[in-house]
Amino acid sequence: MRMVVLGLGYLGATHAACMAELGHEVLGIEVVPEKRAQLAAGEVPFYEPGLPELLKRHIDSGVLTVSESYAEAADFADVFFIAVGTPQKKGEYSADLQYVESAIEELVPLLTRDALILGKSTVPVGTAEKLSLRADELAKDVSVEIAWNPEFLREGFAVEDTLHPDRVVLGTFPGDRAEAVCREIYAPMLEDGTPFIVTDPPTAELVKTSANAFLATKISFINAIAEVCDAAGADVKAIADAIGYDARIGRKFLNAGLGFGGGCLPKDIRAFMARAGELGAAEALSFLREVDNVNMRRRTRMVELTREVCGGSLLGKRIAILGAAFKPKSDDVRDSPALNVAGQIQLQGASVAVYDPKAMDNSRKLFPTLDYALSAADACEKADVVLVLTEWQEFVTLSPGDLEPYVRQRKIIDGRNCLNAENWSGAGWLYRA
Ligand code: UDX
Repeated sequence: MRMVVLGLGYLGATHAACMAELGHEVLGIEVVPEKRAQLAAGEVPFYEPGLPELLKRHIDSGVLTVSESYAEAADFADVFFIAVGTPQKKGEYSADLQYVESAIEELVPLLTRDALILGKSTVPVGTAEKLSLRADELAKDVSVEIAWNPEFLREGFAVEDTLHPDRVVLGTFPGDRAEAVCREIYAPMLEDGTPFIVTDPPTAELVKTSANAFLATKISFINAIAEVCDAAGADVKAIADAIGYDARIGRKFLNAGLGFGGGCLPKDIRAFMARAGELGAAEALSFLREVDNVNMRRRTRMVELTREVCGGSLLGKRIAILGAAFKPKSDDVRDSPALNVAGQIQLQGASVAVYDPKAMDNSRKLFPTLDYALSAADACEKADVVLVLTEWQEFVTLSPGDLEPYVRQRKIIDGRNCLNAENWSGAGWLYRA
């Protein structure tokens, strides 16, 4: 099938390459010139394991092409995926829908055949219906159907999650052809038994927001328990293991530590609260404010703990920060807990040296005033304390001997509960988590 993907960020580039992998002919639209040039040359402008090989193969074979032209898009196909960003509005909780809206405003007047627009971006409930009304106004003698087909991919596992999703969800208006089209698009996965949930657009929109709200809640739940463990001298990891054996609870997403960041969970729970407020249901989601508070408190707690380990003041101390990405296997630093902590520590008078295996360029752009190191060892040069803030494998496998020649003091804080405490304590380090 021929199809267009509007927006080639983390979500759109992965979706476009994966649709080509499923055998479709795909045109990707990207408005940022540098990103477009890279993608057109078969390069991925961000770090995502497995994606560069897939993208290059399909760009080289010509099955996947890239353009900036909406006119070309309107001509190319009659199935369109919207994969543009829906960031948090500045100074507000709600989602900024300007990119989704402008995709509709630009595309629909150019359509000369009936078309199906499938939304992938995470949007507030009610968006598909609003866009559908607007598309009817903009369409010139053609019928434009809008349906929502949310995406659940995780960065770092984006290709795997797109090609082998846990489920495919479609929210469509009664009588529309979206279901038949999606059955054809996703045929290989549906034949493999992937559950296909067909519902109405508001439900599909809410499936996505509810899933992210639940994941965020799970993380903040265990982090709240971690606060109690700190006070009581108990071991939160053992608690997560023990309660995780209960199949109703499950062990996944119960890793206590510095909490969640990234381009999705933090802004999605805030947008969800904002939307519930607009619908008169604010009270139903008031617990999400606490989920957000617990999460933000982790960052402050890490700074306090570092100060404590430094003897009460950060002034003049040198702190090594290992990890800048919001999670391993990603170069994404949007709302990164690690960089937030680095910034706070610097503000309190310490010098920080940050190292991340993949996120250095993005970190420099977002936090130009931090000091950046060339390697983990380089970051640890004369460090008073080492902080592990993103659990990259190369940090998890560090041994005390790897850092000893560099540090000023043998003190380490494990912000992700990812190190072997006994190894470090046994080697004479002060280990805190
Ligand atoms: C998330 C959802 O998982 C995905 O389904 C959705 O499509 C987009 O948002 P992503 O943001 O890529 O994906 O990362 P995820 O793996 O969910 O991690 C989010 C954050 O939670 C990271 O900062 C991670 O470090 C943190 N986290 C995760 C924890 O602190 N503890 C955990 O147990 C799990």
